[in-house]
Amino acid sequence: MPALGRVLIIAGSDSGGGAGIQADIKAVTALGGYAATAITAITVQNTLGVSAAYPVPPDVIAAQARAVLSDIGADVIKTGMLGDAEVVEQAARLLDDACLPAVVDPVMVAKGGARLLAVDAAQLVMRLLVPRAAVLTPNAPEAEALTGLAVATTDDLRRAGEALLAEGAGAVLMKGGHVPGPRVVDVLMTPYGETLFEAERIETRHTHGTGCTLASALATGLAQQMSVEAAAARAWAYVQEAIARAPGLGAGHGPLDHGWPLRGQDSRGKA
Ligand SMILES: Nc1ncnc2c1ncn2[C@@H]1O[C@H](COP(=O)(O)OP(=O)(O)OP(=O)(O)O)[C@@H](O)[C@H]1O
Ligand SMILES: [Mg+2]
Repeated sequence: MPALGRVLIIAGSDSGGGAGIQADIKAVTALGGYAATAITAITVQNTLGVSAAYPVPPDVIAAQARAVLSDIGADVIKTGMLGDAEVVEQAARLLDDACLPAVVDPVMVAKGGARLLAVDAAQLVMRLLVPRAAVLTPNAPEAEALTGLAVATTDDLRRAGEALLAEGAGAVLMKGGHVPGPRVVDVLMTPYGETLFEAERIETRHTHGTGCTLASALATGLAQQMSVEAAAARAWAYVQEAIARAPGLGAGHGPLDHGWPLRGQDSRGKA
């Protein structure tokens, strides 16, 4: 039995429950951890897209985080949607004060195309959050925006990963969902080596929140004292199965089946 593992999640709410804070809480819980939150924004969202986003004032974001840390505590902090430069700065201050390992998911654009980070804040993420990340989890477009390098292949992911490690990230999990091809390849890079997570691309539109889910699952493993490699491997396998078992909700990018480990044998007969 892994340790409980407390994860403080600093991210935005997705009313549709497929991504954002809701996906984070489900992933942490499904893997046996304890999730607490500092909500950065309320998004009005379903599988068809984000129709509005209401930012939470930065001092209220900080107050939520401090209330959690001063009482419940946390083993790992996970950041997701931050919205703008001011919140990026706030998050960097919180990470400094908390002095905890951080999984930084540098969320920039939602699956449906809505911007979740102001364009001018990407360089600030590179300067303030990349060096503070125990693990950074960019997708291909985010890796491009952070490093200025083109990312169209797995080797490009590697090159961008090197640049992010050089900027001070403890490790990078370079996600390959946006790299075209019949197989999806994620590359975990640490100063000590590289691990590939590779599978056939699942042909589905139900991939809403895969990134949030992966980062939170990874954060849970770290909070449970797993190594980065073991936490990433479990998180990757958890997401693959959650995509395979997606319940088919909504008319757009539908959610995953976050709860599959809690159910044991399901209706499709999988253990
Ligand atoms: N069609 C697919 N088949 C198999 N695995 C996938 C597929 N799409 C994404 N993944 C996996 O899901 C995880 C998230 O990757 P992706 O590159 O899609 O992140 P993301 O763009 O940040 O996601 P999101 O849009 O939810 O934020 C990775 O582990 C990736 O390998
Ligand atoms: Mg993402």
